[in-house]
Amino acid sequence: MNQTQTPAVGIDLGTTFSAVAKLDDIGRPQTLINAEGDKLTPSVVLFEGSDVVVGKEAVKALGTDAEQVALCAKRELGSRVYNKLLGGRQYPPEAIEAFVLNKLRRDAQAQIGEFNKAVITVPAYFDEVRRKATQDAGYIAGLEVLDIINEPTAAAIAFGFQQGFLKPNSTAEKRTILVYDLGGGTFDVTVMQIGSKEFVTLATDGDVRLGGRDWDQRLVDYVAEEFIRRCGTDPRDDPNSEGRLWRECEDAKRTLSARSKATVACDYQGHAVRIEITRAQFEDMTRDLLDRTSFTTRQTLQAAGLSWNDIERVLLAGGSTRMPAVYNTLRELSGMEPDRSVSPDEAVAHGAAFRAGLLLERHLGETPRFSVKNVNSHSLGVVAIETETKRHRNAILIPRNTPLPVAAKRVFKTQKSAQKSILVQIVEGESASPEECSQIGKCTVRELPPNLPGQTPIEVRFRYEENGRLTVLVSCAGKELRHEIQRENSLTQEQLDSWRKFVAELEP
Ligand SMILES: Nc1ncnc2c1ncn2[C@@H]1O[C@H](COP(=O)(O)OP(=O)(O)OP(=O)(O)O)[C@@H](O)[C@H]1O
Ligand SMILES: [Mg+2]
Repeated sequence: MNQTQTPAVGIDLGTTFSAVAKLDDIGRPQTLINAEGDKLTPSVVLFEGSDVVVGKEAVKALGTDAEQVALCAKRELGSRVYNKLLGGRQYPPEAIEAFVLNKLRRDAQAQIGEFNKAVITVPAYFDEVRRKATQDAGYIAGLEVLDIINEPTAAAIAFGFQQGFLKPNSTAEKRTILVYDLGGGTFDVTVMQIGSKEFVTLATDGDVRLGGRDWDQRLVDYVAEEFIRRCGTDPRDDPNSEGRLWRECEDAKRTLSARSKATVACDYQGHAVRIEITRAQFEDMTRDLLDRTSFTTRQTLQAAGLSWNDIERVLLAGGSTRMPAVYNTLRELSGMEPDRSVSPDEAVAHGAAFRAGLLLERHLGETPRFSVKNVNSHSLGVVAIETETKRHRNAILIPRNTPLPVAAKRVFKTQKSAQKSILVQIVEGESASPEECSQIGKCTVRELPPNLPGQTPIEVRFRYEENGRLTVLVSCAGKELRHEIQRENSLTQEQLDSWRKFVAELEP
């Protein structure tokens, strides 16, 4: 294929729903339709014998084969294996995400022809390990991941396009906006400056385990408790009846965004009940979840050194922002009407397609239409030993919200003469205690030059790329040293290749 024809594809790999978009011939984003005819594909995977079924059909199986269904694998990226056996087998979460990506890729190819290059989105608050796991999932799915991009940034790019910021002769003034992105599994809040052709992140924060699923859970628990009260038995005890209850509750939640009450039908062990829930009740039982997002939003604004007066727009992204309580809370908080003008389901995939277009243009030597500047969402540190207490401590080298790319250097000294190796433990997080941080890995430098005297300086350079990925360089006396980062929960290249082969051989 001629390179100029390579389509610019962006993939929003969501916790609950995923979407794919591409730029059309005149550079406008367009959401692609999957094999079922929908713009959104549930990120749900059913393991049925040797078949792997993704999407709507897998959601249906929640009521009959719940134990063979994998949900919300995105929340588990960074762990070694998914939380349950599927078809008697353990899967790493990135392999489950790869099954989803593989379906998205195949369905998109049916529409736009062969392609393998794509940009995939990640929550801004994802740490380095989860970012790598996302890229690995893309690799397993047979994709060439051009880049990963933060979801709120992608939403802001789609917004910028819609507002005419990306037009070649745009003279639009710089604006400061706040993106509030509440999806199915994660919450991100990002303060950005957008101008003609420039998207600059000022601060970002969030929660990787807060999203629509948690609102669903509250409804499920409420209905189950009510069921127990009336019938004396718990519908959550059986995975299939719990699966059906989930589906019913998610549906009722959507109804409650449009109407003031909804009913949930629940049947279990011969009892059938219909339970009515009002919007006010639902808002009461989920208020603390919403409060968590308000708290983080205020903190992020503070971290950017701004107040609400400095914010010109509050942009809503993510399906869960359809809940009226979200809109009302943000209106109260910010004193302005939040902006819902970009489609909360499609904006992220559209922004990713723009990013893909930009990278493809850059590969062709063209001047990019816009630039994106990002910050790191977690501080980067190394584990050091406190001299006085001999306790392990996180020594922060790159504080969070630093503009990327950024590099930091630290000099370690050999302890004794003729030392053969040094070990550097890298973490991400704000806590002084390394155990409370995310473990990126251990960087071991072996084969130090022979007979080094004790106290020889070894220079270690940590570099965050624009996309939040980390590289490490080690040198001694001006010479680069070989080293490896051992990551606890990442797949090795061999494992990745073997999974990639497995996915490629799956029946379409
Ligand atoms: N009308 C609605 N009212 C309330 N919630 C809704 C509505 N429509 C969609 N949702 C919820 O939005 C969530 C899906 O949103 P979205 O597709 O943005 O998330 P995601 O991309 O799957 O997750 P994430 O971005 O967190 O990884 C689901 O929890 C869904 O129940
Ligand atoms: Mg999303």
